[in-house]
Amino acid sequence: MEQTTNLEFERTMRMDWEKGLLLPNADVRESVKTLGQLESIFLNEKDRRAMDPATVVYRVQAWCPVPEGTEGAQFWGSTVIEPGQVDTEYFMTHGHFHSKRDRTEYYATIEGEGALILMDESRKTWMEPMFPGSLHFVPPSVAHRVANSGKVPLRVVACWPSDAGHDYDVVRRFGFGARLLNVNGKASLVRSGN
Ligand code: PA5
Ligand code: NI
Repeated sequence: MEQTTNLEFERTMRMDWEKGLLLPNADVRESVKTLGQLESIFLNEKDRRAMDPATVVYRVQAWCPVPEGTEGAQFWGSTVIEPGQVDTEYFMTHGHFHSKRDRTEYYATIEGEGALILMDESRKTWMEPMFPGSLHFVPPSVAHRVANSGKVPLRVVACWPSDAGHDYDVVRRFGFGARLLNVNGKASLVRSGN
């Protein structure tokens, strides 16, 4: 009996809710995306190339308690997007559709300000403002990315189905239908061809 209790305790994960981060352990996968890894994602590719490729744009943590692709379970993650811009475009995540298009997701903001940018399969693009405490539902068949329009790291948590998968291809090739730009000091969603 005592052994069972100990095993359960070892599986308990912990969040630092002030920072919106999982306390690292062997079950937490961590990854970093730098400007050098985000080729063709920002509008001004020339400016991106002129910046230090080692600049960190965002960090991701994921807790996947079951194997990827398992039906009926969920994954948990944290993303921290640094403040910054490429030309007038705010630092943001790559963005993706879920491979299984009908799989949805929740996002919540811990700290910072920015936007959850959403795009449906007809390329209609819209945004929801992110601020501490904001809670967001990503509907089926909607691509999503997070942009930081503030001066401090934007800290978000997310929860998504373990069989959703990440499809980066459409975004890599065609981008979103609009971009979050700093227009005279104000974050504005600007329609774009790519
Ligand atoms: O599953 C999600 O939507 C998030 O955990 C994202 O993967 C994370 O925010 C990083 O974004 P991206 O996967 O588009 O690089
Ligand atoms: Ni997702």
